[in-house]
Amino acid sequence: VQPMQDRASNTGFIEKLKSSGRNVIVFYGSQTGTAEEFAGRLAKDATCYGMKGMVADPEECEMEDLVKLKEIDNALAIFCMATYGEGDPTDNAQEFYDWLQNADSDLTGIKFAIFGLGNKTYEHFNAMGEFMDKKLEELGAERIYELGSGDDDGNIEEDFVTWKEKFWPAVCEHFGVEATGDQFNIRQYSLTTYDDLLKEKTYSGEIARLGSFRNQKPPYDAKNPYLAPVNVNRELHKGGDRSCMHIEFDITGSKIRYEAGDHVAVYPVNNQDIVNRIGKRLNVDLDQVFTLTNVDEEASKKHPFPCPTTYRTALSHYLDITSMPRTHILRELAEYGNEKDKEFIVKMTSSSPESKASYSDWIIKDHRNILAVLESLPSLMPPIDHLLELLPRLQARYYSISSSPKIHPTSIHITAVIVQYNTRTGREVEGVATNWLALKKPDNGIKYQVPIYVRKSQFRLPFKTNTPVIMIGPGTGLAPFRGFIQERQFVRKDGKTVGDTVLFYGCRHKAQDFLYEDELNDYQNDGTLTKMHVAFSRDGPNKVYVQHLLGNNKEEVWKMLDAGGHIYVCGDARNMARDVHDTLLKVLTECGGMEQQVAVDYIKKMQSKGRYSCDING
Ligand code: 2AM
Repeated sequence: VQPMQDRASNTGFIEKLKSSGRNVIVFYGSQTGTAEEFAGRLAKDATCYGMKGMVADPEECEMEDLVKLKEIDNALAIFCMATYGEGDPTDNAQEFYDWLQNADSDLTGIKFAIFGLGNKTYEHFNAMGEFMDKKLEELGAERIYELGSGDDDGNIEEDFVTWKEKFWPAVCEHFGVEATGDQFNIRQYSLTTYDDLLKEKTYSGEIARLGSFRNQKPPYDAKNPYLAPVNVNRELHKGGDRSCMHIEFDITGSKIRYEAGDHVAVYPVNNQDIVNRIGKRLNVDLDQVFTLTNVDEEASKKHPFPCPTTYRTALSHYLDITSMPRTHILRELAEYGNEKDKEFIVKMTSSSPESKASYSDWIIKDHRNILAVLESLPSLMPPIDHLLELLPRLQARYYSISSSPKIHPTSIHITAVIVQYNTRTGREVEGVATNWLALKKPDNGIKYQVPIYVRKSQFRLPFKTNTPVIMIGPGTGLAPFRGFIQERQFVRKDGKTVGDTVLFYGCRHKAQDFLYEDELNDYQNDGTLTKMHVAFSRDGPNKVYVQHLLGNNKEEVWKMLDAGGHIYVCGDARNMARDVHDTLLKVLTECGGMEQQVAVDYIKKMQSKGRYSCDING
């Protein structure tokens, strides 16, 4: 079997390409795994055109070596780059981005193409893709196909497939290569099963080090999460049919430190009912121990997830079994079905507009996960190990921390709405992490443990405590501000001068989902909060949103801005951040007497000076 895809090891991607006879390298800037997955698919595609691809993480490569790519015949560098937050690179692309910004290398003779990933509800949609596309050209590299962009707010899979369909013909034309025909069922990993492996030698959900859950050792990070006991898990809603949890993780003795505004990552476990049903549907013993090993011995990624492990653990801890399977997974699975089901899938995963419409209808609108696909198409009988090889990795979920370490040094609080809704066909869709967390209620002194780690953010209170602060956070967007307010109360009690602290909060009904109402009232009464404006969107005849209240109080807002105040926005309500931005422009033109363009520049300047920040993790 021909190895198709592989990862650059810590050094020398050029050497690696040369020694393995590859000519296509696909770099990814990925935060949640989508860009990495797309990179893998492109590297795999290369084989269909007689080229040979390799995936590489820029964080593990000497990116200056890009200049040397011209030493390889017909070499092509592809970049799948996600834009994160306010036009930022992802963590793994940060160093590459820093280098590229000041780079003056001569990239003449280097061929490249970029697919950018982003979300159109944010102002800086695809900023990374655009920056790189321009910069690489400036450095002399040759763009062989136009910049692609995928919108995570729309259908990013479709955007990618559409781009890819034109991209490969452009590659063929440029390099004078030809499609060699479809290649399905080329396995990247081989299966070994074990019948008497010791439990201690089998991964049970650890992220990297075997046994790290039994034998915990700081420092804790993404590869070595801390098993935090859940001290508190209580309902914040007072009515209605939705649910919002206040959770406190105990970090006593863990040496974990955090700041108000940071995020905490949680590694969830999939719903056991779904896991069991997959096992049943595919007729497998879920407790079978196995290993998947890369058929390419040179690959630095030996296993797709920690191995050896059991099918149950892989499906519970390591793989994403609840999101909608992308077209390439369906296409591979189709090979295991009867003619009718195969034709159905092929029709849904090809390039025609009708095909995209039927994918969108059958998979997306009905939110079919892999189990629903298998249950709807009973003839599909893929071997479990092939399915496991294809599914994307289960990702950690990030929550804005809703406490301040000044008041709560030994606990980390989060505020999370339980995600649950029904599709038009009545299928129930549940968010993996929140529904799993909902089960973790302390019970008779028994505390559940949840694997967590802290992810530093840029979302910070002003350095000087007397700087005025405006916080805008509807729904669970309130979370980081609870931490900020705790912090302001602490420094105030400590005798420091604290600037005005104003909160704009919004929820549906005063009597139902007004989060932390009593606490917030207390903060207002003791003067920690100078003012609290609350928008109730469903209590009156008209929708009232935070941006409406912001506009109604424009003089107050302008005064604070003029005095050097900072603005913070947090929340996942669609378009909220943009509406707030537009309202601020109005405040500047109407109260600050600025021309439109001056106001736009003023906001840009606030953003670059860290006076206007958005936290996208709701
Ligand atoms: P709605 O659901 O009644 O439309 C928290 O989710 C609050 O944010 C809710 O009151 C919700 O109102 C509101 N919300 C929804 N879209 C918004 C937007 N674009 N801007 C501000 N608030 C919004």
